[in-house]
Amino acid sequence: VLRGFIGDPMGFALRCAREKGAIVELPIPGLPTVLISDPALIEQVLLKDHELYVKDHFTRLLTEVLGQGLLVSEGDFWRRQRRMMQPAFHHKRIAAYARIMVVETRAMCDAFRDGEERDVHAEMMHLTLRIVARALFGAGISDAQAKLVEAAIATMMQRYLGILGSGLVLPLSLPTPAARRFRRQMAELDILLLGIIERRRSALHAEAEASDDLLDMLLKMQDEDGARMSNAQLRDECMTLFLAGHETTALTLTYCVHLLGKDPAAEARLHQELDTVLAGRVPQVDDLQQLVFTRAVINESLRLYPPAWSIGREASTDTSLGGYRIRKGTQIWISPYIMHRDLAHFPDAETFRPERWLDGLEKELPRYVFMPFGGGPRICIGNAFALTEAVLALATIAQRMRLRLVDTRDPELVPTITLRPKGPLRACVERREADRHETRGQDSNPPRR
Ligand code: HEM
Repeated sequence: VLRGFIGDPMGFALRCAREKGAIVELPIPGLPTVLISDPALIEQVLLKDHELYVKDHFTRLLTEVLGQGLLVSEGDFWRRQRRMMQPAFHHKRIAAYARIMVVETRAMCDAFRDGEERDVHAEMMHLTLRIVARALFGAGISDAQAKLVEAAIATMMQRYLGILGSGLVLPLSLPTPAARRFRRQMAELDILLLGIIERRRSALHAEAEASDDLLDMLLKMQDEDGARMSNAQLRDECMTLFLAGHETTALTLTYCVHLLGKDPAAEARLHQELDTVLAGRVPQVDDLQQLVFTRAVINESLRLYPPAWSIGREASTDTSLGGYRIRKGTQIWISPYIMHRDLAHFPDAETFRPERWLDGLEKELPRYVFMPFGGGPRICIGNAFALTEAVLALATIAQRMRLRLVDTRDPELVPTITLRPKGPLRACVERREADRHETRGQDSNPPRR
């Protein structure tokens, strides 16, 4: 079990579910784990009995950087924070962030030169971090500060990279160079975030000019007793939104580029939709309803490569599940990666077929079969934000260029907290005809090809 779990956790989980059934006990030393892959059992853990479970051992390791942020907090405290933060993710608010999403994606495309090679994963990470930074802080974060955040988050990710490989994350108190660098970058990030938060709170008191970003909403939110979030809590929530809100969407876009690069027919259909619906205009939030194929591509990418491929809980009390006794402390392992390969619901499950989403499949599927954003009360708070961002960014990119894969082999995957490609995903920029004209008109100093 250990060899399977450590060596190839995704393949191992898939084999367990297919060969052993809907509930499988994995006797991992020190960390008894039960893998569940039946939608009804998943619903029981995430929704019906959610009060009997807390976040799992691996997720809890993130408290050292996320403090009491929404992803890791529990109980009444979590409930109060979720209630306060929910309005900031209302679809009306997301329409306001949509402009940022398109502006930032266009800026990225402007910097791409025809014929050059780029690492799509690195570019998408950069893009989605800038989007979440601007959505959070508006103009209140400079480019240099955004770079500092990006570097700190990269270090943070590095620290947790091996998390599922070995389950071992060395304590930060050890005097290793990596731990020292980590502590230094986190301290810099804290100073930066707290500085922005304090300045904004003072501006709010002085009733200086109003901002229209997420931080502004979070500062104004209050619970039923009129209490507002402290600066330390705002710091934890900002850190959480940075961490939870950028890599997942970056991966969705990265895998879209990979999947489209291998399927010229789907790519042509996407271009056709964009040319018809947008007719050369810049995409906007009102176009979402009509960009049905674009959305189908996003769904199919989320199905095949769910960025949050593994969701965990820990039983906080003795209980039962599917007729078995579950002891307090047992880790419950749920994997959207497995669920999304259920042949009963997804024929030809390993194949990229965006068309499967065109005839209302998402509404017909039983709950907890397609679950890229989890489920129950702890479902991803940013799911509408993420879907809007993914559709608008993909539309903006594909309207202007093709990204031709340098290597069409499927990427090797690294299943850490998220499902990352191992190494860069290289693609060559090929501007589409319409964009060449537009760029020619705007760029007075085009690079030599
Ligand atoms: C494709 C993109 C995304 C995917 C696949 C994704 C997936 C998930 C999943 C599966 C969970 C639930 C984890 C659990 O139950 O243990 C979650 C929670 C969360 N996500 Fe996302 N997410 C995405 C984008 C975002 C974005 C854009 C934001 C914010 C801007 C965000 C913020 C959060 C937060 C704060 C939580 C914790 C919610 C809570 O526990 O109340 N996510 N996400």
